[in-house]
Amino acid sequence: MGRASARPLSRWAALVALIAGCAGPAADVPDYTGLQKWTSRAIPEARGDFQVLPDGKRAAVRYRGWTTRDFNFRTYAYDDPRAEPPIQRVTMPAGVTGDPQKGRALFLNRAKGPCTGCHLIPGDDVWPAGSVGPDQSIIGDRKLPDQYFYQLIWDPRVVFPNTSMPPWGTIGGLSSEEIVHLVAYLQTLKGPVPPEKDPDRNPFTRRRPVGFGDNLDPTNNPAVLLTDGAETLWTARGPMAKACADCHAGGVARAMRGVATRYPKFVKAYRRVMSVEDFLAVHAPETTGRPLPAESTDNLRLTMLVKRASNGLPVNVDTSSIEARAALARGKATFYKRVGERNHACADCHTPEKGANKFLGGRLLGDVTAGLTKHFPLWRTVEADVWGMRKRFQWCMTPLGMNMLASDSIEYAELELYLTTFDNGKPLSVPGMRH
Ligand code: HEC
Ligand code: HEC
Ligand code: HEC
Repeated sequence: MGRASARPLSRWAALVALIAGCAGPAADVPDYTGLQKWTSRAIPEARGDFQVLPDGKRAAVRYRGWTTRDFNFRTYAYDDPRAEPPIQRVTMPAGVTGDPQKGRALFLNRAKGPCTGCHLIPGDDVWPAGSVGPDQSIIGDRKLPDQYFYQLIWDPRVVFPNTSMPPWGTIGGLSSEEIVHLVAYLQTLKGPVPPEKDPDRNPFTRRRPVGFGDNLDPTNNPAVLLTDGAETLWTARGPMAKACADCHAGGVARAMRGVATRYPKFVKAYRRVMSVEDFLAVHAPETTGRPLPAESTDNLRLTMLVKRASNGLPVNVDTSSIEARAALARGKATFYKRVGERNHACADCHTPEKGANKFLGGRLLGDVTAGLTKHFPLWRTVEADVWGMRKRFQWCMTPLGMNMLASDSIEYAELELYLTTFDNGKPLSVPGMRH
């Protein structure tokens, strides 16, 4: 088979011509200077904090089992001044031949892309391929120059300024040599493709996952029982000798009816947008003396209890006040801001113009315009645990190389407000249930 090259790799790197430029459409965050600095009231692993290890290295404090890597790429923090990585224009090193077999292995390598997360290629071992990017089963037939492929994999923004494909070379995710192997592999992909044996292998014909049945049925959704159990939190007196029930009379269902339909909302007392979780993390200690940190089990359970009192009522968040409009504009900018090592935006995966309703690997991507919020917090079957929306935000971006923010940060609250506007008018249904 082919050989990589006789040239030393360092020479290849030297051939890389960098052209620094402005990278893609700017998602400028509208003015945030009027916002206060928020001190997180979340559990320690949800605050986005760092610690210094005995060996002097900085490690992130995150949920158990999550990576502790400190990603040195831009985040959603309003005061993070970093830009996305500048676009790099490169020339494929001359006189080198890639190895298509190595290229194919790289295409499938989960520790790298994997490219198959977004692109279909032939082979029974390709599972599960996604459809966020075009099917490449016969891309070799297009007789595109090697240089085109090389540049496209290194940094596709040169060709597609608003692409959702990460700039693999620019971010250091793939070496020059690896990209040369990938180019060699792509050139071998020629038709005709053999008939598909398994329609599920192909993300364009794969069956869509079915739901999980009635999310409000306690025999079906374990989070319903946890919500029932939260009634004791509602009536338990805290150190200040007060319980929720003492001030909010008439039982949760009556006292809290309709409340959650208006969240996230701008809460005057705290001069920021808050979700029910954010609000309770402050309100519970202030009124009962009992801490209720964001992402704690009790906070999630009380949140589900409060939200359930609005089940069936239409979401009705404010988008008209001056504060709400400013927050919404910032939340929307965040949704479109490309961050992290892979330079992804939420929009890459959750808008119908891009990834929504397509498969990322085996996962069908939710569509923001259809509403992604009205069933949170929810039971995650794979985790066998309740997840709030903020943990979902943190989870979507951490594997993509962005240091997560505190779950109760203002940035996430305003992002959640933006997402929730798509659910306006639709009935709340908490707790939800998802994979
Ligand atoms: C997150 C999704 C995603 C991943 C992962 C991804 N791509 Fe892509 N890729 C795309 C999209 C989307 C396009 C189509 C270009 C566009 O409109 O943005 C594309 C286009 C391409 C093209 C075709 C360009 C053309 O002119 O038709 C090639 C070749 C390609 N990708 C190679 C790769 C390789 C190799 C990898 C793995 C190193 C990879 N891609 C990983 C999303 C992805
Ligand atoms: C000492 C009295 C007191 C206690 C104890 C108390 N609250 Fe409140 N709560 C209030 C007051 C006063 C308000 C503001 C009422 C208003 O203007 O909506 C409020 C507001 C709220 C709101 C927002 C209502 C809205 O319409 O936005 C929620 C949710 C809430 N409380 C839940 C709780 C929960 C859960 C507990 C127990 C952890 C609790 N409260 C304990 C007095 C109390
Ligand atoms: C690289 C792709 C990718 C990016 C970027 C991404 N997500 Fe996701 N997201 C997923 C996947 C996969 C799932 C699980 C499948 C699904 O429900 O869409 C998911 C699920 C979700 C859900 C739960 C949907 C539901 O119905 O329960 C929400 C909410 C969400 N993402 C919000 C965001 C936000 C906000 C951002 C930006 C901070 C973001 N995502 C960025 C891939 C992504």
